[in-house]
Amino acid sequence: MDAIVKPPEGYAHGDVTVVNHPLILHKLTLMRNKETSTGLFRQLLREISLLLCYEVTRNLPLTTEQIETPLCEMEAPVIAGKKLIFASILRAGNGLLEGMLDLVPSARVAHIGLYRDHETLEPKEYYFKAPEDIADRLTIVVDPMLATAGSSIAAVQRLKDRGANQLRFLCLLAAPEGIERFTSAHPDVPVYTAAIDKHLNDKGYIVPGLGDAGDRMYGTK
Ligand code: PRP
Ligand code: URA
Repeated sequence: MDAIVKPPEGYAHGDVTVVNHPLILHKLTLMRNKETSTGLFRQLLREISLLLCYEVTRNLPLTTEQIETPLCEMEAPVIAGKKLIFASILRAGNGLLEGMLDLVPSARVAHIGLYRDHETLEPKEYYFKAPEDIADRLTIVVDPMLATAGSSIAAVQRLKDRGANQLRFLCLLAAPEGIERFTSAHPDVPVYTAAIDKHLNDKGYIVPGLGDAGDRMYGTK
């Protein structure tokens, strides 16, 4: 999966990686289609999360340990350091979280319950739980949608206030306005996304987008 394309010029801050692998883009197109069923939408998000997880963990540091194969002893590579934390922004973050836990089953998990107020688009927190030793671990924050960035900025700030100091943010779809705001607010947090869409509409939805990720995942509308 070598095809990492940097976004167009104009993102002044931070570090943004667009993971535009053909398998991801094909599955994303199926997710965008309004005729796609709730079940298939969830399944596709889970499949894409495996591919995005591969990319967001690409440069984790390695060490070696001595093992014995059926033929001989060898110094074999293993991931160094403490286990990762995956921090899911509820609800829709769980659609990425579950697939990522399939790949990294030993990861610790944080949950941040946020919803966007439909009038103001400001995030409202209703739940927060994170591992106590968050300062010692790399934390990958997951949410399929980066729209105005209100939710992701608040979630990352909450984790920083709790001690997190190594963070990455992983989403499926981003708006240019949201990327600009997020990378200005948290220039130390690299962003990984499968696509950057055209713009936000006047209700704060990503266009062309895929609609409301939580509603489409859980069939609530
Ligand atoms: C969606 C999405 C993000 C947020 C993105 O959640 O999952 O968390 O919107 O928008 P923003 O970048 O403008 O903050 P929503 O608030 O709809 O909550 P839900 O997942 O509980 O449906
Ligand atoms: N949240 C969503 O689920 N979809 C959008 O387009 C914007 C925010």
